[in-house]
Amino acid sequence: MLDGRDYFIEQAGPLNLDSVLPGYDDIVMDIGFGTGEATAQMAVDEPQVAILAIDVHTPGIGDLLHRCAHTPLPNVRVMSADALEVLTALQQDSLAGVRTYFPDPWPKARHHKRRLIQQPVLDLMASRVRVAGFWHLATDWAEYADAMQVEFEAHPMWVGGVIARPDWRPTTRYERNGLSQGRQPIDLMYTRVSS
Ligand SMILES: C[S@@+](CC[C@H](N)C(=O)[O-])C[C@H]1O[C@@H](n2cnc3c(N)ncnc32)[C@H](O)[C@@H]1O
Repeated sequence: MLDGRDYFIEQAGPLNLDSVLPGYDDIVMDIGFGTGEATAQMAVDEPQVAILAIDVHTPGIGDLLHRCAHTPLPNVRVMSADALEVLTALQQDSLAGVRTYFPDPWPKARHHKRRLIQQPVLDLMASRVRVAGFWHLATDWAEYADAMQVEFEAHPMWVGGVIARPDWRPTTRYERNGLSQGRQPIDLMYTRVSS
């Protein structure tokens, strides 16, 4: 039985996923989990898949650690870190997939450069996700969904596009808030291909 603190990983240099989540063939990175409600539900739904959950928002990290300790969720590890720094610290081809549900939309044009989905990040992610691995994204900002598609279509190592919202994806807190304001989620699924 894991203690609450055992779910939390302090990053210091290169990160070997086999040592922090031993025994799992499939390790998925969850970038920007918010309160971790959907992360915890997916961990329960797929106990054979390990989740490396990353966020920078301290209260949300506390929420997910609380869920881990109380459910419990042995297939989850939580990090308080910039996702790009964690990706850089990972070994090549170490991820079976990535989930990025409702990344900050940065709707103002002058802030678009802060968006996560950009060519350098697609490059880095392609090196960390193994061939045939996935990147599942969702956003409720239609313009960001369009911009994501432009970025992915310009990249040689990702193929895919918009999909119907899978009913196995739990509704996230941010999504629920958007729905209450009339925004509809758009899901996108990409597969990592060899160049
Ligand atoms: C709009 S919220 C969505 C949260 C959650 N996925 C949901 O749908 O409820 C975006 C989340 O991404 C996190 N985030 C932003 N930049 C990040 C980064 N560089 N690395 C990790 N997480 C980040 C934020 O702290 C926030 O929790």
